[in-house]
Amino acid sequence: MKILITAGPTREAIDPVRYLSNRSSGKMGYAIAAAALKRGHEVVLISGPVAIDAPEGAAVVNVVSAGEMLTAVQERIGEGIDAAIFCAAVADYRPVALATQKIKKDDSGHLTLTLEKTEDILGSVRSQMAYQGLLVGFAAETHDLEKHARQKLSSKKCDLLVANRVGNPGAGFDADENELQLFFADGHAESLECQPKTVLGEKLIEIIEKLGEAKT
Ligand code: PMT
Repeated sequence: MKILITAGPTREAIDPVRYLSNRSSGKMGYAIAAAALKRGHEVVLISGPVAIDAPEGAAVVNVVSAGEMLTAVQERIGEGIDAAIFCAAVADYRPVALATQKIKKDDSGHLTLTLEKTEDILGSVRSQMAYQGLLVGFAAETHDLEKHARQKLSSKKCDLLVANRVGNPGAGFDADENELQLFFADGHAESLECQPKTVLGEKLIEIIEKLGEAKT
C-alpha cells in the first residue's frame, strides 16, 4: 500500500518569537510510519516540528503550521494513496493576526489574543478532496472518550478512529507507551493495552492491512 501519515504538532505563530502548540512528540505517528515501512509499504510522512529522526525510507514532508499541513495533504492525497492515517496533533486555533514585531509587555498585566479555527484537515479529505481510500483518524481525549471518538468516526467519515486518553503521565502525549481504543465504522470496538508505541504501530498497521483487504 501507499500510506500517508501525519504526525507531530503544528505551531501557530503569535509573533516572530512565540507560537501556540501542544505536547505531541511525533513518537506515535513515527512508530506507525516505521512499522509500515518494515511491512514493505510506501510511506509519505507529513510531519510537524519534532525532535526525533524520521524512519529511513519515508518520503518526509516537513511543515510547521496547520495551514501548511493542509496544503501538504492536499498535494499528496491524490497521488494514489491507499490509506491515510491522521495522527498529528493539529492546533485547533491560531491567532487571527500575526504580529510582525515582538509583542511588548505593558503595565496592564494582561494580553488578549483573538483566535480563529484552523482548517479541519481530517474532516475535509472526504468532503473536499474526494479521497476514497482507507481513512484512519485519531482522537486525543481527556474525558468521554468513547462518545467523542464515535462522533469523530462518523462526522469525518473514517473507517477507523483510534482514541487515546491524554493528560495523564505515562501514555498519550510525549510518552514512549500508549493505550488505544479502536472504533470501527461497522460499529465494533477493540482495545490495545498500554504498551510501547513501536509495538502499537505494528499492531495498527496489521489492522489497517486487514481493513484494506476487506475493502478491495
Ligand atoms: O506525538 P506523540 O507525543 O507520540 O503523541 C501521540 C498523540 C497523543 C498526539 C496521538 O496519539 C494522537 O492522539 N493524535 C491526535 C491528536 C489530536 O489532535 O486529536 P483531536 O481529537 O484533537 O483531533 C481529531 C483528529 O482530527 C486527529 O486525527 C487530528 O489529526 C485531526 N485534526 C485535528 C484538528 C485539525 N485542525 N485538523 C485535523 O486534521
